[in-house]
Amino acid sequence: MSTLIKNGCILTAENEYQADIFIENEKISMIADSINLAADTVIDAKGKYVFPGGIDQHTHFDALCNSGDENTSGYEATGSVIAGGTTTIVDYAPQDPGCGLIDSIDRRINERAKGLIAVDFALHALVTEVSDKIFDELPLLAAHGVPSIKLFMAYKGSPLYVDDGTLYKTLQMSTEYGVTVFVHAENADIINLMQKQLVSEGKTEPKYHADSRPPFVEAEATQRAILLARAVNAPIHIVHVSCKEALDAIRDARSQNLPVFAESVTHHLVLTREELERPDFEGAKYVCSPPLRDNSHIDALWEGLRNNWLQTISSDHCGINFKVMKHFGDDDFSQIPNGSPGAADRMHMIWTNGVAKGKISRQRFVEVTSTNPAKINGIYPRKGQIGVGADADIVIFDPEYRGVVKFSDNPNGVDYNVYEGREQIGRSEKVLLRGKLVVDNGKFIGEMGQGQFIPGKPFGSCYQNL
Ligand code: URP
Ligand code: ZN
Ligand code: ZN
Repeated sequence: MSTLIKNGCILTAENEYQADIFIENEKISMIADSINLAADTVIDAKGKYVFPGGIDQHTHFDALCNSGDENTSGYEATGSVIAGGTTTIVDYAPQDPGCGLIDSIDRRINERAKGLIAVDFALHALVTEVSDKIFDELPLLAAHGVPSIKLFMAYKGSPLYVDDGTLYKTLQMSTEYGVTVFVHAENADIINLMQKQLVSEGKTEPKYHADSRPPFVEAEATQRAILLARAVNAPIHIVHVSCKEALDAIRDARSQNLPVFAESVTHHLVLTREELERPDFEGAKYVCSPPLRDNSHIDALWEGLRNNWLQTISSDHCGINFKVMKHFGDDDFSQIPNGSPGAADRMHMIWTNGVAKGKISRQRFVEVTSTNPAKINGIYPRKGQIGVGADADIVIFDPEYRGVVKFSDNPNGVDYNVYEGREQIGRSEKVLLRGKLVVDNGKFIGEMGQGQFIPGKPFGSCYQNL
């Protein structure tokens, strides 16, 4: 099957230019000023931007919540993700109860995601049961196509939490075995103390979630993680950076040429903590960790993206139903499962609030939403670029589209959208996954189960470029 995309303006992480793209056997086979070969399908992209499919390196589908015994919604929702312009996710693969890292990864590929997932996917290992078994399996991860592991410094009292000794030993081993350590950096003890203090004062509503996790809680853990990584000469990746103070620590480390990498997420770039004050417990929809902050932090994060202190923008998608699961915390905000959905809206929310508002360039948009996550997760150059030989994962984006986000337009697997009613500038009008048109007019027209597991290679070779 062949497809010809004509007359579009191609956006890459480096530049933009008018050209045609020819696709054969799932791959881009030619890019040229004007291609006039016969093709099974011809798409006219005049007036549109053509860029590599989004790569969201931080999602939690069908994954254990910090409440400890519930899972987020599953891969059925990934049709909405590709409709939003993201063609690959790097999803977390938590250890299943009583199982090892590798078993849990295999089960996710061959059972949980199979027949359901609509996007291509890579995986990060995720520790939920700390024991020596983790260290027996760490050497096997990269060869299994999963060259990263996530550890939570937060959520003490839930299976997600790991102690500093585990973090240190994982970092020690990581370089030898080609595994990048991703950390959720917040000081768990201080959070637990602050939660107890606030609840004992009768401060039980969702808005107090932000008060229980002030910026210094995130900054302290970020600095600690960087120091531990530095002590053993290991790279480290700090996920969902939300505040200026944590960003300062990352900037300082990078200015010393330490291999410290960091991610921002859509909700921290777009939403403020005022959302937590919504009436009728609706603030619970916005309970995520680290919490939403104020505009001064939002400005700092955009500055961090422009200056390459932050290399990626992810969604941190967590499908936690409002009507049931968020209400676990009716009487106590600390019992509200953390996380918000967002994978379906990441690309246009970042275009709207970043590119259209002049905060990042179109090139930086491609870099932080696609190219860099592909490099960091070892799936570049197959993914994350418009180039000959790459998978033909392509977004044809209409920059003239104007609308507002509506849950009903692209249901995301739970019962709300945190961006509901927000301005939307631009839309992923058509999306191709490995050369097949799977989104048309902004709607998913592909098949559930079309997504493939994409094994990642160790990230080491790309450090110097990021
Ligand atoms: O609030 C969040 N982000 N929940 C999901 C798990 C995590 O912390 O990444
Ligand atoms: Zn986290
Ligand atoms: Zn997360």
